[in-house]
Amino acid sequence: MNTLIAANWKLYLNNQETLRLAENIVQAEWNIPTDVDVVICPSYPMLASMHALHEHNIALGAQDVFWKNEGAFTGEVGPAQLRDLSVEYAIIGHSERRQQLGETSEIINKKIKGALAGDLIPILCVGEDYEVHESGMTQDKISKQLHAALKDVDLVKGRLIVAYEPVWAIYPSKYEVNPDDVAAVAQGIEKELKTIFGESVYADRCQIIYGGSVSASNIKIFLTIPRINGALIGHASTTPEEFGKIIRVSSQITN
Ligand code: PGA
Repeated sequence: MNTLIAANWKLYLNNQETLRLAENIVQAEWNIPTDVDVVICPSYPMLASMHALHEHNIALGAQDVFWKNEGAFTGEVGPAQLRDLSVEYAIIGHSERRQQLGETSEIINKKIKGALAGDLIPILCVGEDYEVHESGMTQDKISKQLHAALKDVDLVKGRLIVAYEPVWAIYPSKYEVNPDDVAAVAQGIEKELKTIFGESVYADRCQIIYGGSVSASNIKIFLTIPRINGALIGHASTTPEEFGKIIRVSSQITN
């Protein structure tokens, strides 16, 4: 399974800045290593203008997705609309949506099912806040998030990416994450996914990645953690030089 490097551009850039950044990336003509999959997730309105990225072996992702393809759902964007724009991935359940928009486990569960039914690869975000981390209840929290998000999810086809993002480590954060803690959580995620889907579906269709202030200078540390096979990167992915470096150093890392 290739290492997955996914850029989450959040609401950092206006339309022109998004176009400029994508253009810079295309012009840089990165030789994307064959063992690395690169995904860029810009804001919805910009997805239609990102065709050039495909020609450079970069896939497109959305930062969210609704679970239905049509109907009276003001403001929503469905999986089929995204697929029409050659979008292959969708971030689901990001902590910023859980916390600031009240996205519940039920909603996240519907989005995961909708994305898979619509041939999108969900990047399901899970993670604990600082109080939970301090109280030693991280595993419990992550396990609950996984079971709720993946309730009755059928993974006979498609793929699932789980991004472990300690909420307190997301940029700008004043805390340092201990790689041993990440390793323990990744082990717990693997265990839960095997329980939910079985060993072979886990092995064939699931991938665990890490997110939270990942940069060119620390990505190697995260990618060498057992079971972590990629990263979801916000802030550091919005500078082409930094993002290019991240991709180059992500190649040929074994854990
Ligand atoms: P960050 O964001 O890299 O800026 O911490 C990661 C994320 O929130 O997905």
